[in-house]
Amino acid sequence: MKTLIFDPIHNDAESLLKNKVKLIPKKINELEHNPEVEAVVLRTYTKLTNRELDFLPNLKHIVSCSVGLDNLDLDEINKRNINLVHCPGTNSNSVAEHTIYFIYSLLRNSERPFPELKGKTLGIIGFGYIGKLVAKKLKGCDLKIIAFDVVPQEQKILEELNTEMKTFDEVIKEADILTIHVNLNKHTEKLINYPVFEKMKKNCYFINNSRAEVVDEEALVHYLNSGKFKGVALDTYSDEFKNKLKDNKNNLILTDHIAAQGEDSFKEMCMQPVQKFIEQINQQKN
Ligand SMILES: NC(=O)c1ccc[n+]([C@@H]2O[C@H](COP(=O)([O-])OP(=O)(O)OC[C@H]3O[C@@H](n4cnc5c(N)ncnc54)[C@H](O)[C@@H]3O)[C@@H](O)[C@H]2O)c1
Repeated sequence: MKTLIFDPIHNDAESLLKNKVKLIPKKINELEHNPEVEAVVLRTYTKLTNRELDFLPNLKHIVSCSVGLDNLDLDEINKRNINLVHCPGTNSNSVAEHTIYFIYSLLRNSERPFPELKGKTLGIIGFGYIGKLVAKKLKGCDLKIIAFDVVPQEQKILEELNTEMKTFDEVIKEADILTIHVNLNKHTEKLINYPVFEKMKKNCYFINNSRAEVVDEEALVHYLNSGKFKGVALDTYSDEFKNKLKDNKNNLILTDHIAAQGEDSFKEMCMQPVQKFIEQINQQKN
């Protein structure tokens, strides 16, 4: 089966694929009409829209080694009856650890004597795999955890995670440390915008490890310049973000979309969809 691979994946997953399909490395911007291609393998960096899908009229499988699916035109993929395999939840540990690394770094970089986590209120927006794991890992740290999600949560799980669900506005207003873990879609684009930043506590800490587009960066830059925050840490931000900053900001931590690249999580994130894909094509042959 002719299979294009657009992004680097874990070596073990790539070896598995090579044993099963004809794997051809390709850059997405060099994609041309190719009716022989039946499968593609990609990560979050490759966008598949109508335009790219039109180049591959016989595409049957998309193997996404990423948790977020915002790079894919899901309606179009459904319409074309293309099988999509991905890996929900596989990188949660790495992203949750990155969030905790951000929280402690922001607190300890801020001033002397530095603020301790004990007694603070942590607000989590988006209480899916990653949001829940952040709560699970921090629940013994003597802080108050509040969260908002559009999906109702089971009381038993909330008790286990020592977390209280509140409204969006309550979480935004009450958090000393606010961390964003929603998926990107048309409802969450610029979810964190001028009015939302305005409602946050003066001197709060703000963290985004989800997607750059969830935050209105103009608004973030405005509030960074006005001295709203005690600290900001971002793993996801646009290519233009650094240029938008007038000068160096105190206690601004930026990492380059690496939150999911912990060794175990990265391997799992690549192996799981590849193994699922191979099982599926084996079943089709039988
Ligand atoms: N920085 C990175 O490298 C990295 C790595 C993995 C995931 N991510 C991002 O993190 C996101 C979350 O990952 P996950 O595994 O927890 O996904 P998930 O689907 O389990 O969780 C997302 C949660 O957000 C909730 N949500 C959606 N819209 C909302 C809204 N308007 N307000 C509040 N909650 C809302 C959903 O109901 C869901 O519970 C991914 O979609 C991806 O974009 C980033």
